[in-house]
Amino acid sequence: MEYRMDNNISENIIEVKNVKKVYRMGKERICAVDDVSFTIKKGEFCCLYGVSGSGKSTLLNLMAGIEKLTSGQIIIKGSNIRKMGEKGLAKFRQNNLGFVFQSYNLLNMMTALENVELPLIFKKIPAKKRRKLAKDMLVKVGLGPRLRHKPKEMSGGQQQRVGIARAFVANPEIVFADEPTGNLDSKTSKEVMDLIKEMAKANHQTIVMVTHDRRLAEYADRIIHIFDGKIERIEEVQKGGPPMEASMQPGETVDEVS
Ligand SMILES: Nc1ncnc2c1ncn2[C@@H]1O[C@H](COP(=O)(O)OP(=O)(O)OP(=O)(O)O)[C@@H](O)[C@H]1O
Ligand SMILES: [Mg+2]
Repeated sequence: MEYRMDNNISENIIEVKNVKKVYRMGKERICAVDDVSFTIKKGEFCCLYGVSGSGKSTLLNLMAGIEKLTSGQIIIKGSNIRKMGEKGLAKFRQNNLGFVFQSYNLLNMMTALENVELPLIFKKIPAKKRRKLAKDMLVKVGLGPRLRHKPKEMSGGQQQRVGIARAFVANPEIVFADEPTGNLDSKTSKEVMDLIKEMAKANHQTIVMVTHDRRLAEYADRIIHIFDGKIERIEEVQKGGPPMEASMQPGETVDEVS
């Protein structure tokens, strides 16, 4: 089915439809993501949760346009990302998506300020404005006194704050995060998670985060349990009480778009 911009994009910012990813290793075929369908609403904090090797990162990378689908569709803001072409997709990502990585992925030769300026350079924001936006964002994440530090001159938690500032500085509608606290201790993890959540709620941004840590998953509004490349079930996280579970059959689709 062809997707047009007049779809219900204000509601479902991301639609994942019958998505499959098969890796070929010689004669072996590994179905890392196996016919997965779900939708994510604008402003939602959604977590992909499951054990190691279940296909979380593959699914996130497919959604972010970093990896190519074997089959199925991913629709973001009403547009099928597969049909955008390489240049179109790159532009779409610059304008709409932010990324936080487990290993921070900062450029070592650049200062915190320069790292955070990068997405704004790609968006061709003039130097003066860009420097101010980057600086304001670093102040917001508590790194006002570290603007000129290079990644090696900062702690892990500080580096990830730079990573978060970089992900959010261009005010993207969607931020993808793969184990954003995977290299941090539990106290720093909590600070980083609180920061991500605070930033997203303040600007009504949509977050898709991968984790295998149950405590971190509970920061989300909804937890999508992934097992063996499939959705095992989708759980609504009830705030202020124990999580409520909505059980699902494997392979069943959720929030199917009509
Ligand atoms: N580039 C690749 N080539 C072949 N197989 C791959 C590739 N990337 C991932 N896989 C396989 O796909 C499956 C899912 O991998 P994925 O990285 O998505 O898991 P994950 O849930 O993110 O695990 P972790 O929590 O350890 O990061 C695994 O069996 C993995 O070995
Ligand atoms: Mg992973």
